[in-house]
Amino acid sequence: MSHVADKPAKLDYIAAAAVPTAALAAWQALFDTAGLSAGQQVFINGAAGGVGSFAVQFAKWKGAVVVGTASAEHADFVRDLGADQVVDYHAGRVEDAAQDMDVVLDAVGGDTLDHLWALLKPGGILVTLIAPIPDDAPTLHGVRAVRIITRPDGTELAQIAALIDAGVVHPVVTKVLPLADARRAHELSETHHTAGKIVLRIAPDPEEARRAA
Ligand SMILES: NC(=O)c1ccc[n+]([C@@H]2O[C@H](COP(=O)([O-])OP(=O)(O)OC[C@H]3O[C@@H](n4cnc5c(N)ncnc54)[C@H](OP(=O)(O)O)[C@@H]3O)[C@@H](O)[C@H]2O)c1
Repeated sequence: MSHVADKPAKLDYIAAAAVPTAALAAWQALFDTAGLSAGQQVFINGAAGGVGSFAVQFAKWKGAVVVGTASAEHADFVRDLGADQVVDYHAGRVEDAAQDMDVVLDAVGGDTLDHLWALLKPGGILVTLIAPIPDDAPTLHGVRAVRIITRPDGTELAQIAALIDAGVVHPVVTKVLPLADARRAHELSETHHTAGKIVLRIAPDPEEARRAA
């Protein structure tokens, strides 16, 4: 199976670089693992992040009702991506803000995982991208739970590229840094509060190259 697909025609290389890992993680969690379908309710923990921003758009495209967590600073951003409800996780317990979810996608992990089980309806599914699932938690809560590791998949990437070219979803690039600032990119990422994706530019900026010539 091919691991690659053509770049979406609509995107430049910077925006295209923001797609594969984050979009495939969201796609494989929501569709391959959870089997999300139209009319279902999905809760996205970490909706403003690189993975979450794709997950909100994919779930909405599928016809699901989408609830996502974000800080107040990113609430409008997540709403604009298509979320029906945004839960400010600083404002109270997330389990008091949403219930009866068919699917929970966890892109945050840590202590937040403990609060996600109660959001699910019986038989619902939690998919986490982060840490191993505690052995007893799914049985205790009467739900299913899977941790996934994203795999390369050219066929899925081509489907995602088609959705981008159709204007259904878009990558969100919040910062572009030169490769020499890779350390700065990691520091920003490790704040765990950037929205969308940070992209490192490897080739010289064509604009700057033109000006320098
Ligand atoms: N298993 C895999 O194959 C796989 C694949 C891709 C990614 N991952 C992992 O998945 C995680 C998410 O990746 P990412 O690229 O989406 O990360 P990211 O872009 O760094 O996520 C940052 C976002 O997380 C949100 N956030 C931080 N703390 C939160 C909390 N307590 N509750 C809700 N949201 C919170 C922030 O929202 P606010 O700023 O609004 O607080 C921020 O927008 C990372 O740990 C990454 O390593 C795993």
